[in-house]
Amino acid sequence: IDAHFSDGPLKGRHALVTSGPTHEPIDPVRYIANRSSGTQGTAIAAALRDLGARVTFVTGPADTSPPAGIDVVQVETAQQMLNAVTAALPADVAVMAAAVADWRVENAGDRKMKKDGSATAPALTFAENPDILATVSKAATRPKLVVGFAAETDDVIANATAKRLRKGCDWIVANDVSPGTGIMGGTENAVTLITDTGAEDWPRLTKTETARRLADRIARHLT
Ligand code: CTP
Ligand code: CA
Repeated sequence: IDAHFSDGPLKGRHALVTSGPTHEPIDPVRYIANRSSGTQGTAIAAALRDLGARVTFVTGPADTSPPAGIDVVQVETAQQMLNAVTAALPADVAVMAAAVADWRVENAGDRKMKKDGSATAPALTFAENPDILATVSKAATRPKLVVGFAAETDDVIANATAKRLRKGCDWIVANDVSPGTGIMGGTENAVTLITDTGAEDWPRLTKTETARRLADRIARHLT
């Protein structure tokens, strides 16, 4: 059963990774979602696996298929993602790469909304979703290292630095996802790693290379 765990600096460690978007139902045939291909989270899970970690991969409905040799938990909503993440603890490291919908539709129903007969467009009301990263960061069984992401379009470093403090995580992987960067949905990423000692710009790399670099960094921190 342990045959797929390779030797490496993370052998014997448990890594928890969230990835992909969440879908929040409106009715049985409609949902709202964040944009996320799941590419970066998938690459991170594979890179941690390759360093010998046992990986639990909690993913929303993503375009990419999950890597082999890891434990995959497929979820749809933010609430389901939180439940799966909580159930997967304890872990040595948590990397929260998912694009979690900030709000769910409070007046979602289990019957299809119909156009016929109504003169006005439907109104949706929203409720805030639980913050999975913040919950893990203050959990009694908090992983030794908690890594969040911050996809921003403005004031990337300032927003990500504030986010790190607000959420109580150790590191934030920040990036500029403005249209024109090609990062959303693309194969490359250009990130800044924000830690307790400051901000470190990484070069523009493939998402696979970015993932390997992050996994190496995690291994160095945990060993
Ligand atoms: N995150 C989470 N649960 C949420 C929202 C966000 O776990 N309900 C995590 C994301 O996976 C990411 C980090 O928190 O690692 C930052 O997400 P982001 O959407 O940038 O932060 P928010 O606090 O939602 O702030 P914003 O208003 O910028 O969306
Ligand atoms: Ca958000």
